[in-house]
Amino acid sequence: MNLAASLPMPDAATDLNLDPYWMPFTHNRYFKRTRPLDRLMVAADGAYYTTVEGQRLFDCLSGLWCSSLGHRDPRIVEAVKAQLDRADYVPAFQVASPDTFRLAERIAEVTPENLNRVFFTNSGSEAVDTALKIAIGYHRLRGEASRTRLIGREKGYHGVGLGGITVGGMVANRKMFAPLMVQGADHLPHTHNLKEMAFSRGQPQWGAHLADDLERLVALHDASTIAAVIVEPMQGSVGVVVPPLGYLQRLREICTRHGILLIFDEVICGFGRMGDWFGAQAFGVTPDLITFAKCVNNGTVPMGGVIARQEIYDTFMQGPEYMVELFHGYTYSAHPLAVAAANATLDILHADEVPRRFGELAVKIEDAAHSLRGEPNVIDIRNCGAAAAIEMAPIPGQVGARGLKVFEEGLKRGMLLRFTGDTIAMAPPVITTQAELDRMFEAVRASIHAAA
Ligand SMILES: Cc1ncc(COP(=O)(O)O)c(C=O)c1O
Repeated sequence: MNLAASLPMPDAATDLNLDPYWMPFTHNRYFKRTRPLDRLMVAADGAYYTTVEGQRLFDCLSGLWCSSLGHRDPRIVEAVKAQLDRADYVPAFQVASPDTFRLAERIAEVTPENLNRVFFTNSGSEAVDTALKIAIGYHRLRGEASRTRLIGREKGYHGVGLGGITVGGMVANRKMFAPLMVQGADHLPHTHNLKEMAFSRGQPQWGAHLADDLERLVALHDASTIAAVIVEPMQGSVGVVVPPLGYLQRLREICTRHGILLIFDEVICGFGRMGDWFGAQAFGVTPDLITFAKCVNNGTVPMGGVIARQEIYDTFMQGPEYMVELFHGYTYSAHPLAVAAANATLDILHADEVPRRFGELAVKIEDAAHSLRGEPNVIDIRNCGAAAAIEMAPIPGQVGARGLKVFEEGLKRGMLLRFTGDTIAMAPPVITTQAELDRMFEAVRASIHAAA
């Protein structure tokens, strides 16, 4: 089908009033002044977006890490349409659709060990705040109400809720909102060290000892005040920061030793990208709680959630049976359209062996990404699962300007890249062909040159 032919064309965009929409995580003034038609999307299909001008852009980051099967897989589209014909909305409290119970069971089937109780939210941010609440509530119900302290990690990204920015470690996301943050949180050091690990292929050899810093925090605060540690197994948003070999294992050991819950924020890692169902299996470490979102339904309808160890759930199941056990939930928790999209996505993940195929794609991405070593200003290349990042030296005094330039050069070459500061991240959909992969990396190479 010629999508472009049926789409609104630039004149529709020339009249567009850009002022009222306050764009999230966007340089609004720059966007609205430059009016970039190549950044106005009107369609998405497979691995490509179509802009208002009819230009096709390869989706280098699977949307925002969420559309890992490619866009508008007919099996998901049909499932959502069929759901809409049956029921548009079902209340989330005291009532549920059978499909939601089925979805929870199916998610529990692909998680490690006894992580088998699933709470639904509508985003990764809500999933994180929910997991933090569950952690604190769990300790309280077990008679350890002093365990309220949350430990995150420098450079971590856990969404934009108040709990999430508290444990997060991306400074720009936090510095303006300090008065709103949860009291008493602390942070582990980040594991990104150019001197020791630049250009590592996959997991760096150096850095497992950084997990031992948790022992220092335990000595400082006392374990009896610490509820949970939250980390992303692989850090996506900050630019594919890969856990050093043995690091997550050590975190697990220390948490277990001190009765601290370990939360894996798998909003990016979950549902295949790491070459397994979750980062937990890919890295061989089982946390107590997993947060997910994004790929659970291929980004089709907002959905997130928390998967808890059964023992955590059971701890909440006390008191009179007529009472609500967890005073928490969202109007749109397990929205029927999101559930339909998720059940269809799980069908595809199984039928098309998506985690295994991502594992195969990962090998190709690693080779292609590291071929960019030696290009101008490239100071690090990282890869993990089917994701890679190219870090460039900032233009002195203008952190982020080079990243923006490469992003814009990428658009000229038909690539929708993602930049964080001066790092370019790539995590293409599982349907990406070798030819598309080659084109993407050659376009990145050319864009880096153009931005040099
Ligand atoms: C690890 C992690 N946690 C939480 C979030 C927040 O998710 P959302 O944007 O759906 O709120 C993200 C988003 O990228 C993420 O990468």
